[in-house]
Parts: sequence; structure tokens; C-alpha cells
Amino acid sequence: MGTIQIENVSFRYDQMVDNLFDSLNLKIDESWKLGLIGRNGRGKTTLMKLLLGQLDYQGQVVSNLNFYYYPQAVVDKNVPTIEVVKNLTHLEEYDLWKIEIELDKLKVDSGVLQQEFSTLSPGERTKVLLAILFIDESGFQLIDEPTNHLDIEGRKIVSDYLKSKKGFIVISHDKNFLNPVIDHVISINRADVDVYKGNFDTWQDNKNRQDNSEQNEKEQLKKDIHRLHETAVKRENWSNSAEAQKNKNRYGESVNLDKGFISHKSAKMMKKAKTAEKRVDSAINEKQSLLKNIEIEEPITLNYEELSHPDIFVQVDNLSLRHETITTPVVNFKVKKNQVLAVIGQNGIGKTTIFKQILGVPQPFEQIGDIKVANNLKISYLRQDNELTGEIKALAVDKKIEPEMVYSNLRKLGFERYLFNQPVENMSQGQRRKVALALSLSEKANLYFWDEPLNYLDVITRQQIISAIKKQHPTMLLIDHDQDLIDEVSTQKVKLHY
Ligand SMILES: Nc1ncnc2c1ncn2[C@@H]1O[C@H](COP(=O)(O)OP(=O)(O)OP(=O)(O)O)[C@@H](O)[C@H]1O
Ligand SMILES: [Mg+2]
Repeated sequence: MGTIQIENVSFRYDQMVDNLFDSLNLKIDESWKLGLIGRNGRGKTTLMKLLLGQLDYQGQVVSNLNFYYYPQAVVDKNVPTIEVVKNLTHLEEYDLWKIEIELDKLKVDSGVLQQEFSTLSPGERTKVLLAILFIDESGFQLIDEPTNHLDIEGRKIVSDYLKSKKGFIVISHDKNFLNPVIDHVISINRADVDVYKGNFDTWQDNKNRQDNSEQNEKEQLKKDIHRLHETAVKRENWSNSAEAQKNKNRYGESVNLDKGFISHKSAKMMKKAKTAEKRVDSAINEKQSLLKNIEIEEPITLNYEELSHPDIFVQVDNLSLRHETITTPVVNFKVKKNQVLAVIGQNGIGKTTIFKQILGVPQPFEQIGDIKVANNLKISYLRQDNELTGEIKALAVDKKIEPEMVYSNLRKLGFERYLFNQPVENMSQGQRRKVALALSLSEKANLYFWDEPLNYLDVITRQQIISAIKKQHPTMLLIDHDQDLIDEVSTQKVKLHY
């Protein structure tokens, strides 16, 4: 079996203070199914770009494999999907059956090949691009977050599909998706990068054990150093008083006695204490560098303003939206104070369209049924896409939010300070999502519309969001395909289906 060897690779983007990767060494077998995990901005996407040879780095990557990256850039989306396939694969007409086979495994009707690419649902697009990626079975696939925008069923299909393949790296923050698929983990930690044999759960168990034992060791060391300090102080006091005693008799009168042996002993004891302290100091330093891998989950807070009334914030009666051939399923629901309503349903069924209609965003849809929204509500809308551009400060001012508040929330979400002045479009996907999230957290609101908040976000941030909602019980309408989030925070669900 061939290998991919990453040898002494160092890299940083121009504006960075420190290296993103510093003398990185990894050895990967070409048959492994790897999950690449790590917090937002740690360099997962960058690592893939390094393997693809798209960035200038120090060190070397030794491999004779062909690497393929998802998501591919589709330059022209307004053409039949088959043209997109041809452009990206250079397949000849007589070889196009290969794509049909892959599409079949992904449970996509090959009829989509004749359909304009721009009209495919997000789930269909993902599957077509993945099918293209696996045309060359001998290649090594680099799959960057395929689950964003996929509904629960889509995630299951893609997960089964990947399980049947081998030799790839997939980035995902969704443990339920990763667990059945992968047999190895590459984890980009705070202080280092490691490769682990197992799936996400076994990696997590191992990490928790490691963190705990390091934490315990640190506690033990703290106790040791405290004890040593105390002993050292005692010894010092003793030797000082011995020194003072040297020239006095037992009545405290000054006399000229030679007590050289006391002086000698006290000096020896001081020296011993100092050596012991030094040893503990260096042990502590060593441990501290290990402890840098412990991820910290800081609590976050929504700037939620609870209202004593009205009781019903949003009421939707027999609502359906129509445009050309599309008609969304009829829905009915009420959102009361402190309720989290989860709107669920498959990709493309109209969840976001319903959100926008309630919010009064202009859309080319004819409305059937009624929408009532209580008056004078402050609403915070977290959109589905990473559409923000420009600097954080300007984005905050635009929404009449104190930039400092946004910065503070971003710090809690694990943002480094130097990023505050960077344009959002230069950031990693998760960092971009965090900017949108921090704006929504900072904005004073009585009601939240959160459309797929978890997309692109790392595991710790997901947990921060879940904890905040559970603690504050804000009034919220929520769309997400993450089962854990829905189960943990929703007080009621409405399912869209025909
Ligand atoms: N083109 C760029 N110019 C400058 N900095 C960049 C650029 N692309 C990425 N970065 C920075 O490099 C770091 C790593 O980015 P990368 O996209 O590799 O992270 P990631 O682990 O994939 O994160 P995510 O989970 O959010 O996708 C981030 O701090 C990001 O802001
Ligand atoms: Mg990324």
C-alpha cells in the first residue's frame, strides 16, 4: 500500500503572526478512511490545499496519488449538469455511464444530468459533485464538509456511500455522520496534530481520558509545588534563625561562638530545596505545553430581552407559498413566549422560504393562508448562508451593535484577536459563520429566527449554542438538520411534508 508522507511542513498565511503548521509530520496510508477534525480556523481546509499543492509551503509532501477536492468550483452553473460533469472530469461521451453508476449509489436520478445545475437542490448538487470526485477510484479524495445543507436522509446516503469507498479524508463536525464512515482520525489540536486509529467516538473517549489524566497530573503538580514552597519557606526560616542564633548564647546575649556547622547545614538545605523547586518548575512547564490541547468551552449568552406579553409571537394558519411549479406544504403553528419551534423537513421543501415570508422579505411567492406576527418585536435573523463580507466593525455598526460586544462574543467562540480586522471573506467557513452568530448573539432581540445555525461550526461551538438556549429559553424559530440540536433545545416541532 502506498502512503502519503507530510514531512516537516510549515505554513502560514501572510497576515498571520504564528505558523498555522509548524514542522508538521504525518504518515497516512492510502487505504485509510480519515476524518479530519479540529476547531474552526485550525487549518483543516488549508491542510487539504497543501496536499493539493495549491499553497507555497516549506517542507515536502511525498505521494504519487492524484488528489481530488470537494467542493469543486463550478464556474458556470447555468448549464445542464452534464456539462458541469464534462468540464470537471474531462470524461468522453462514451464514458459518461461512470457518473450514472456513482449517482445511482447516491440515490440520485440520472435525469438531473439534463437539468440546469443552478436548479438542483443543495443536496443534489452535493451528491453530483461527490459522484464526480469518485470517478477516478484510484485517486485520493479530499472532502471538505459535505454535510452542510444536507438533510438527515441525505447525510445517511452520503455516509453509506463513503463507507463503501476507501482512501479519502473527510472534514466534518458531525460526529453522527463521521462515526460509521471513518477508521482513522486526524485531529488538529490547539498545540499539535495527531493521527489516531478509530472513529470519532473512540477518539473522543481517548481524548477525554488524556485530558483528565493531564488535568489530574496538573492538580497533583500544583499540590507538590505548594508543598515544596512551604518546605522551602520553613527551611529558609530555620536557616535564617540558625544564622541569627549563631552569634547568641541561650540567654540571647551576643557571644563569639563558632557555629560553622549550622551555617553549613542550613546552606545545604537551602540548596536542596532550590533544586527540588527547579525540578518541579520544569515538570510544570512541560505539562503546561501538553495542557494546551485541552479545549475550553466558555459559556455564551444571547442578548435576549424577555417580554411579559404578548403570549403568542407568531401564528401561522394554513400557510402555503406558491411560485410557478413550486407549492410548499400547508403548515400551521404558533410560537409562544420562551418556546423554541423547530421547523424540520427535507432539503428544498421550503423551510427558509417560510422564514423569509414571515419576516417580510420580498419574494416572488403567492401567499395562501395567514401569518400573524406580534407588533414591535425586536427580531434577530441568522441567515442560512455565509453571505457576510467586509469588516466586523462595519457589520456591527450597521446593525447598531457595539463592536466590542461582538468582539467579546467572538473571543468566547474561540476567535483570535488578529482576525478582528480581517475582512470576513478571507476567513475560514466556520469563522465566517461565527461572525454571523456573534452578531445575532449581540443584537438585542425578543425573537430569533435561526436558519441552520450549526453549519460549519465546530463541536465546541455547537455545545456552546445548545447550552445557551437551554439556559435562557429564548423565543425562537429554528431550522437545522442536526438531530442532537433539535432533540436538546426544541420545545415543539413542525414537520413540512407533502
Ligand atoms: N486566504 C486566506 N488568507 C488569509 N488567511 C486565511 C486564508 N484562508 C484561511 N485563512 C486563515 O487560516 C486559518 C485556517 O483556515 P482554514 O480555512 O484552513 O480553517 P479550517 O480548519 O478549515 O476552519 P473551518 O472549520 O472554519 O472550515 C484561519 O485562521 C483563517 O482565518
Ligand atoms: Mg474549512
